[in-house]
Amino acid sequence: APVICIVGARPNYMKMAPIMRAFAAHSPRIPTLLVHTGQHYDAAMNDRLFTDLELPRADVNLEVGSASHAVQTAEVMKRFEPVMDAHGARAVLVVGDVNSTLACALVAAKRHVPVIHVEAGLRSGDRRMPEEINRVLTDQMSDVLYTTERSAHDNLAREGIDPERALFVGNVMIDTLIANRHKAVAPEQLLAQAGLDPHRIADGFGVVTLHRPSNVDDAAMLRRLIETLHTVSRKLPLIFALHPRTRKNIEAHGLSSLLEAPGFLILPPQGYLEMLGLMAGARLVLTDSGGIQEETTALGVPCLTMRESTERPITVTEGTNTIVAGDPQAILDGVDAVLAGGGKGRRIPEGWDGRAAERIAAHLAGWLAAREAPS
Ligand code: UD1
Repeated sequence: APVICIVGARPNYMKMAPIMRAFAAHSPRIPTLLVHTGQHYDAAMNDRLFTDLELPRADVNLEVGSASHAVQTAEVMKRFEPVMDAHGARAVLVVGDVNSTLACALVAAKRHVPVIHVEAGLRSGDRRMPEEINRVLTDQMSDVLYTTERSAHDNLAREGIDPERALFVGNVMIDTLIANRHKAVAPEQLLAQAGLDPHRIADGFGVVTLHRPSNVDDAAMLRRLIETLHTVSRKLPLIFALHPRTRKNIEAHGLSSLLEAPGFLILPPQGYLEMLGLMAGARLVLTDSGGIQEETTALGVPCLTMRESTERPITVTEGTNTIVAGDPQAILDGVDAVLAGGGKGRRIPEGWDGRAAERIAAHLAGWLAAREAPS
């Protein structure tokens, strides 16, 4: 039976790509079945990333699409269970913290199939974040927990998870960043293709991504953030890659005109190589993403995180990340500090070396063999 590998949403693809490669390259090869839940389905959110990352086409697509958390999670579960039955599962491997991660882990755990969680143990401490619920529950059900930073082990211990199950391996997302760094698309080329004048970023630019429900679903919060970014855009042109959730809410709350300012360059969601080029070329990145906090640390580019907390504290203690929340003054002060050249430390965290997926393959092969050995 194969190890069933699950992807569902955009941030999963860059984590799964190196794992699939390492499993194929392992001797003997670790057979896999790649299941896409269909949580994300747009060309911009989905297809382009598969091509960029050279992810094999999914063997099965559950086509769940968008819905409330309950319905989306339930649909993934309903549709995943028969796939697991039809193909058999040596283990189910999930990455990150999206709804698809939790749903498939739960199906596997109930069938006594080992659950392998990559990027385990991260905690923001904020249970209002849907991802935090997904992290806590997925880790409780996991048999093997691979972590990206040492702080994760303290979090797991606090929740009573046997330390023997957790292994620090480093960061698979940074495997992908290192493997693709030389293929990054130049921002000028990207703007030209989008019909925007590349000269507008001749004196530098910032990059913005924003999509967390806590930031974009509430009209007052969204207005405050967009107005603050508007102020920033007068100091530094901002390239803003708009997530579909954010685009819909900006339109729904009548904020579109704010984005028409000369300092904003608005783009649709980008492919991986485009985003990599944008981040690498930026003077600073303003984001509420989880992964981008890590990618900017690996690139040595200052990051201001528009969230109350981070589940990736090493990006703050060792990397280039500063938490500014939704506070206009903190955001503006953070931007001014970066523009004045007040740089943070830029140490590359331990294990963010391009070889995390290899370590996972080596360990998992041994773990599965030991588990399956006749006693
Ligand atoms: C999901 C993840 C989040 C991750 C983000 C990255 C959960 C709980 N959240 O949030 O952790 O950071 O993906 O993008 O799993 N939509 C489209 N096209 C698509 C997908 C979504 O237009 O291909 C729109 C739909 O209107 C949908 C909305 O975006 O309702 C939200 O999509 P959903 O997958 O529910 O959550 P994200 O906000 O993308």
